[in-house]
Amino acid sequence: MANRFPPDIDMETPSIARMYDYLLGGKDNFEVDRRACDMLLEEFPETLAYANDNHAFLSRAVSYVAARGVDRFLDLGAGLPTSDNTHQVAQKVNPEARVLYVDNDPIVLAHGRALLAGGQGRTAFLNADIRNGADALLDAPETRSLLEGGRPVCVMTVSLLHCLPDSDDPFGLLERLFARLPSGSCLVYSHVVSDDPETARLTTERILSFGTPWGRVRSPQEAEAAFEGLELVSAWSDGREEGPRAVDCAGWRRPGTEPRARPADPSVRLWEHAGVAFKP
Ligand SMILES: C[S@@+](CC[C@H](N)C(=O)[O-])C[C@H]1O[C@@H](n2cnc3c(N)ncnc32)[C@H](O)[C@@H]1O
Repeated sequence: MANRFPPDIDMETPSIARMYDYLLGGKDNFEVDRRACDMLLEEFPETLAYANDNHAFLSRAVSYVAARGVDRFLDLGAGLPTSDNTHQVAQKVNPEARVLYVDNDPIVLAHGRALLAGGQGRTAFLNADIRNGADALLDAPETRSLLEGGRPVCVMTVSLLHCLPDSDDPFGLLERLFARLPSGSCLVYSHVVSDDPETARLTTERILSFGTPWGRVRSPQEAEAAFEGLELVSAWSDGREEGPRAVDCAGWRRPGTEPRARPADPSVRLWEHAGVAFKP
């Protein structure tokens, strides 16, 4: 099986992209990823629900943003292709929408290229580490081509910034990205959080014990640093001005569901805190 994959793919250490693929029911993962996920699920069973809720959030959010007229998408930490990928959702609303996927995991690049083979040239893939900084990301030729014309851009950091420790300054990176983007640009965002510091600490320790580069589970208040300088939109599917705007991803603009700051079930200790916000 080993020679089916590029040589830079590490099959001995779990990868976040492949673990997430496993949680979503995908097939692009190895035994080491499945074992790590199974250990995590034993201790934190809610992981399965929030991974799947997060994917559904991504689709609703991209659809919403595309319907508001944004037609440039910079999907950072894009992950392995699955159902309803960003370009498929955005181009369903606007066939002219352009999407640049960015990820630093080589397996994502390999599968991403296969997905895009024969595409319309409005979707591209960039193998890059977001820790190289906002300028490196925005000045890459692939990004320049996406951003051409100075139109507003939707930056997506969906289930990504918890992969970065505080020392990588994940929220500073967002601030520097938005400083260079025009008014009307927006952020589609989710982040694994807990309101129980002990759960946050144990989950972080467990994931780091796999040897996988990772950041940490943050509190909802810490995670909201991403929205600094931006204006959050209503989390209700009918846009009503009520309640919190950064919420559990499961309820964000989901028809027939009340958006909530945390899951209603008090036994759920971890969830993805999510929201969409625009640059004024
Ligand atoms: C949990 S997955 C989320 C995938 C997708 N955004 C979603 O929500 O469906 C996180 C992704 O971020 C990528 N990632 C982690 N750290 C990164 C970094 N420093 N630079 C670029 N991508 C990174 C991982 O390889 C993985 O594919």
